[in-house]
Amino acid sequence: AEANVGVVGLAAMGGSLARNLAYHGNKVAVFNRTYARTEKLMAEHGDEGEFFPAKTLAEFVASLAKPRVAIIMVKAGAPTDTMIDQLADLMEPGDIIVDAGNAHFPDTIRREKAISARGLHFVGCGVSGGEEGALKGPSMMPGGSEESWKALKPIFESIAAKAEGKPCVAHIGENGAGHFVKMVHNGIEYSDMQLIAESYDLMRRGLGMTAEEIADVFEAWNATELNSYLIEITADILHEKDKKTGKPLVDVIVDHAGMKGTGTWTVQSALDLAVPVTGISEAVFARGLSDQTELREEAQKQDFQVGRSGLEGMPLEERQAFVNNIREALYASKIVAYAQGFNEIQAAAKAYGWDIDLAAVARIWRGGCIIRAKFLNRISDAFESGEANVSLLFAPYFKDALETADHSWRRVVSRAVNFGIPVPVFSSSLAYFDGLRSKRLPACLIQGQRDYFGAHTYQRVDEPGVFHTLWAEKDRPEIKES
Ligand code: 6PG
Repeated sequence: AEANVGVVGLAAMGGSLARNLAYHGNKVAVFNRTYARTEKLMAEHGDEGEFFPAKTLAEFVASLAKPRVAIIMVKAGAPTDTMIDQLADLMEPGDIIVDAGNAHFPDTIRREKAISARGLHFVGCGVSGGEEGALKGPSMMPGGSEESWKALKPIFESIAAKAEGKPCVAHIGENGAGHFVKMVHNGIEYSDMQLIAESYDLMRRGLGMTAEEIADVFEAWNATELNSYLIEITADILHEKDKKTGKPLVDVIVDHAGMKGTGTWTVQSALDLAVPVTGISEAVFARGLSDQTELREEAQKQDFQVGRSGLEGMPLEERQAFVNNIREALYASKIVAYAQGFNEIQAAAKAYGWDIDLAAVARIWRGGCIIRAKFLNRISDAFESGEANVSLLFAPYFKDALETADHSWRRVVSRAVNFGIPVPVFSSSLAYFDGLRSKRLPACLIQGQRDYFGAHTYQRVDEPGVFHTLWAEKDRPEIKES
């Protein structure tokens, strides 16, 4: 028993993680259900470090030094459950099972409960950065017990991405906290991606720019406060030409967006927690709409005769000004999406009893993960200082950014409406901001309606208690119910 860590499941992500571990001096036991895959990994990369390939799970467990650390990277759902059970049967109290897949956090809570009852540790760990991240340095979000973190810390720190010299990994909180935070990361990823897509659409259809021209714009934006991995790859994608037709590749890709579920979970959980995550929800629904094949085909046949205007004829100077408006609107909407995502994490921490350091979450998202971005430095500072405790929008740096972007944001949303170009995340983020800022909301009228048809009662602004108006009676008396 020599290996200090093991990886089960050697598909793209698991294989890359195992190689990353070995490359950084860990002694890595590896196991895959079909041994051929293990053999292939060893043939291609066995010389990158110290590996202990196992033919059976028993052999795999036997090759691990105590306390054993086994990282599972298999398909989410039933395959993960099966693997956890088989490992737990072979392992001993004190050993640690890590699920590094994109598990749904309630599953992680359930699994942690079952495994810890057997004296073992179970750690649900969010891992972001795709295949390349797993290989070269992911952002890692482990949950589970403090005790298990002590054992995992040196191993995880050895392979995580580095941001300003610090490893992008932190213990997020007990049981499902790590997978919860990874889930919200993905929700934010959805809104980031949709905002970039809306910006592209405004420039392409609204301003009539070419893919190449837009690629240059994103490239330039990457040198601003928008600097991020997603902006960078967007420029790359838009520069790409299709080998077959010579057209921009983006023009030959089918416009139906897929999703594996993490965005949907983020919204479902936000609904349970009653936290408005309007940016993320609209991003999920926008993907959903894109994939409504029949509905979209039928809508084409309808050929709606509605007014809309493009801006192709706009003078160059004005066009450039509008592109700048889009950049500022994108930044403002992005801030809102992050504010909402962090609010969801805060609410979950309260509901599930997790002690989550939001500044640390922002810090470990600065490198390795899909949403890595320069402005996460500002976000971690804002949580560190306590300025963002209630909402990120109230931290002076972000408040100022919103005020600066305000004119552009409104211009972009109103122009988009005129063009007939959907900007669900731009506009819902602005609506959230305006809603939040409003001293009085028309919710008073909704309370009146609820009381009218359902006797649901209301509260008064000038007197404590619960009131109901007898709407059916002629002089509509108000009664105080409590
Ligand atoms: C990451 C990604 C990763 C993956 C998602 C994408 O952080 O590395 O988020 O987890 O790409 O599965 O999810 P969709 O298929 O739902 O877009």
